[in-house]
Amino acid sequence: MLQLIKRCPEYVSGYKDYCRELYDNDVAYFRPTNPDYIDEDWFLRTKDWYDKKEKGLIEGQPVSFHYWAIDDGKFIGEFQLRTEFTEKVLNDIGSIGYAVKVSEWGKGYGAEILRLGLEIAREKGMKKVLLNINENNVASIKVCEKAGGKLQDTININGEKNRRYWIEL
Ligand SMILES: CC(C)(COP(=O)(O)OP(=O)(O)OC[C@H]1O[C@@H](n2cnc3c(N)ncnc32)[C@H](O)[C@@H]1OP(=O)(O)O)[C@@H](O)C(=O)NCCC(=O)NCCS
Repeated sequence: MLQLIKRCPEYVSGYKDYCRELYDNDVAYFRPTNPDYIDEDWFLRTKDWYDKKEKGLIEGQPVSFHYWAIDDGKFIGEFQLRTEFTEKVLNDIGSIGYAVKVSEWGKGYGAEILRLGLEIAREKGMKKVLLNINENNVASIKVCEKAGGKLQDTININGEKNRRYWIEL
């Protein structure tokens, strides 16, 4: 059964493999951690930064929570939730980010990660979330619309057209 868990040392090597696949396939629209930076010290080296992000203590960054998607001990993907509607969230990155390991695409994981992620957003007291999706990202648009995303508009972000979808919780 797919679960969203907080980052933890146990799944760092699964996370690295996932990042490697996204890098090797030159996947657009989502940049994970550079897998070359993920060594045995990486988790502890970055922990403080992720902890601070959850508390809104990183200058210029909205409050953000990071989760890893695990199915029966296998690393599947990630989910990011930004609980504040800052200018950057509204006009650039949106409230939510998600990705699935390339070799696991097309198995329903993307839709399930978003479904579980929306439960977390609800538990955190959010009434709605915003997804900003490149208009060429057909898979993500499908996942978002399946979850009830309602198109607000299409805006230009760094020279690319992005759709803004709201999901009411
Ligand atoms: C977007 C992403 C998470 C989808 O994950 P996934 O596990 O392949 O998605 P699912 O298997 O849950 O598919 C959900 C729906 O999208 C459809 N879909 C998936 N990939 C598709 C594609 N390339 N083209 C058209 N439809 C697609 C599926 O058919 C399914 O629809 P259905 O239930 O009606 O059959 C995955 O492609 C990914 O990680 N992309 C890179 C990161 C990214 O773009 N993240 C989003 C940033 S906004």
